Amino acid sequence: MLDQGAPPHDNSPAAPPSPGLGARLMRRKPVERLVAEGGQGDGGSLRRSLGLWQLTMISIGATLGTGIFVVLGEAVPKAGPAVTLSFVIAGLTALFSALSYAELAGAIPVSGSSYSYAYATMGELVAWVCGWCLMLEYGVSVAAVAVGWGEYLNELLDGTLGVTVPAALSAPPGDGGVFNLPALIVVLLAMVFLMGGARESARANTIMVVVKIGALVLFCAVGVQGFRSGNYENFMPLGMAGVSAAGATLFFSYIGFDAASTAGEEAKNAQRDLPRAILLSLAVITALYVLVAAVAVGAKPWRHFTDSEAALAQIMREVTGQSFWGTLLAFCAVIAIASVVLTVLYGQTRILFAMARDGLVPKAFAKVSPKSGTPRTNTLIVSLFCGVLAAAVPLGRLADATSIGTLFAFALVNVAVVVLRRTRPDMPRTFRVPLSPVLPVVGFAFCVWMMGSLSAVTWVVFGVWMAVGLVFYFLYGHRRSRLAAPATPEAK
Ligand code: ALA
Repeated sequence: MLDQGAPPHDNSPAAPPSPGLGARLMRRKPVERLVAEGGQGDGGSLRRSLGLWQLTMISIGATLGTGIFVVLGEAVPKAGPAVTLSFVIAGLTALFSALSYAELAGAIPVSGSSYSYAYATMGELVAWVCGWCLMLEYGVSVAAVAVGWGEYLNELLDGTLGVTVPAALSAPPGDGGVFNLPALIVVLLAMVFLMGGARESARANTIMVVVKIGALVLFCAVGVQGFRSGNYENFMPLGMAGVSAAGATLFFSYIGFDAASTAGEEAKNAQRDLPRAILLSLAVITALYVLVAAVAVGAKPWRHFTDSEAALAQIMREVTGQSFWGTLLAFCAVIAIASVVLTVLYGQTRILFAMARDGLVPKAFAKVSPKSGTPRTNTLIVSLFCGVLAAAVPLGRLADATSIGTLFAFALVNVAVVVLRRTRPDMPRTFRVPLSPVLPVVGFAFCVWMMGSLSAVTWVVFGVWMAVGLVFYFLYGHRRSRLAAPATPEAK
């Protein structure tokens, strides 16, 4: 496509004219090239060591955390007992997109997740926008989640030792402190695991996932003893608007089910296992969320939910009258949220790995350590960035900003499925979205609806984020893209 004759009056060997801006923004990376480059980094290859079990655990690990342990407390005052419905709505939004993710992850099993799917179907500019949104979903959410971890750590320290990390060292400037040390520490701990290797990190994550599922089951078992049906009497006190606003907030708790799709280049049988891992993890997560929310609002009148960070631990304490249970739950939450940090950080490094291989971000992110088979430089840079962001910047309403970025990326994945079905109908697919294009279109509509339910402030944050991303793209990625270079034998 690039070789369309020489410029007029030029006697030198035919030099291809550069394509126009529109063509450059729309250039696509062929699926075959994406797959052929899979695993290859600068100086080494990623190791294929993850099976279905580990991939499912990565997705559950990345998803189950702050949303249910912390954000639930914020959502109940918006929706009342109908918060259970909000979880179902947010879960449905996730489900339609999960189907699309499953189809694309099976067809294009690489590490870039939706960024790579967009590159293959909608061209470079859309891919960049998608990758930039994924930085909100992954990079920025690591920071937000690390802050939630610090809050539960304080709850745990208070319950066990009767001490807490002083405010100066547990909040950033602007939020009543100087530096959020716990948030930095949890990110650095995750970094150490990730540098050790994907298999080692997956093993640690699996243990943590078992602990967090156990904690939520325990919460249900204890909480149900305080269940009063009267708490459900006024089921939807703030109407459907409240339910959908809470759903949009709670969407944060579903972010991460797609994390398995960032492990495409380290999976042993990516085409078979990625779609299964994505759908399986979403089923487990939705069931747990609805159950936990139903028990929580049954055990405590919705008006008594304050914006507390440790809602579940408080309910345990109130129902049993013993501080032990609350402390145990706080301990499990500390483990649970640490596993979100670990797996989401993992996802961010792999997405940047794919983007660097394409030339859209600096090459350092694609360097692989031959010793561990992991992108160590990438992991170091990402961890330091996320750690400092969590520790020094008041993140405030960042959870919502993370949701809007994720919803945007999910919306694009739904479009990508339809585009790929049209452009490459015969491509082998290990999973196909049923009733396509109806379900992807419904998935797209759900994402747009959820985005519309988020506040104006969130939209402004999102707009600023996208503007910064586009400036970076035009100053850097657009020029350095490997698709911009004339095809060389090794770049083909
Ligand atoms: N879904 C993840 C959490 O709730 C981001 O912590």
